[in-house]
Amino acid sequence: MIVSQTRTGAASENHTAANVEMTEYFLALIDQRRSRPGQDLISTLLAAEIDGQKLTVPELLGFCALLLVAGNETTTNLIGNAVLCLAENPGTIDRLLREPALIPQTIEEVLRFRSPVQSMYRLTVAETTLGDEVIPAGAPVVAWIGSANRDERQFQRPAEFDVDRGHNRHLAFGHGIHFCLGAPLARLEARIALEALLSRLPGLSLEQGAHMERMDSTIVYGVEALPVRWQPA
Ligand code: HEM
Repeated sequence: MIVSQTRTGAASENHTAANVEMTEYFLALIDQRRSRPGQDLISTLLAAEIDGQKLTVPELLGFCALLLVAGNETTTNLIGNAVLCLAENPGTIDRLLREPALIPQTIEEVLRFRSPVQSMYRLTVAETTLGDEVIPAGAPVVAWIGSANRDERQFQRPAEFDVDRGHNRHLAFGHGIHFCLGAPLARLEARIALEALLSRLPGLSLEQGAHMERMDSTIVYGVEALPVRWQPA
């Protein structure tokens, strides 16, 4: 399902222009890989066949856009959100330096506490009862992942960032057949980035008095910029 957010005026023009630019960029890349295949993802997609059928150009474009958006901004925000969580809890950084084995579960807690994807859209295929509400078939529904991840019936002290939280059944990567395809990659990237940041930037902390602005989105959660400081080696 493709959902476009309502945009008006300049925002809509910018959106269209960016889309055109991105499509042209990918079309050129697809042409290039068609004539000179390599070991890359686009060459693999070009060679892929399902029941003897290749992907069409619109399908290839859709794949490229999905992977770029789904795979880039989300993980970038996960890393930024992790630094924010750690900087807000300074003892945690020292603890992770002493116990790096805690990093994977810290990333799970960041995914829960500051979920990079806060909401997902769905259309009901059948009449559905949710709590006391009856939702008719064909209705748009917003599933608030960020809210589910702070559900006090699932998590003790949900508003607390706790690197010792075990059994962290968060929904940051969704649930069911559409569970995020890139979850293992995102987890790996975040772990490598955090290990590098913690070991190479001693005294990592937030810039004092830094003004942080949330990204203007109901779906993606992160800050526009994260001013930090550290002690030079
Ligand atoms: C922290 C990083 C990420 C987060 C929080 C995230 C979150 C999500 C969420 C919530 C969904 C929707 C699940 C659903 O509809 O139930 C999703 C789907 C998807 N994600 Fe991610 N994602 C991340 C990273 C990535 C990466 C790195 C890639 C690929 C390189 C990726 C590729 C996809 C794809 C292809 C889908 C669609 C799966 C489907 O519809 O079957 N994601 N992701």
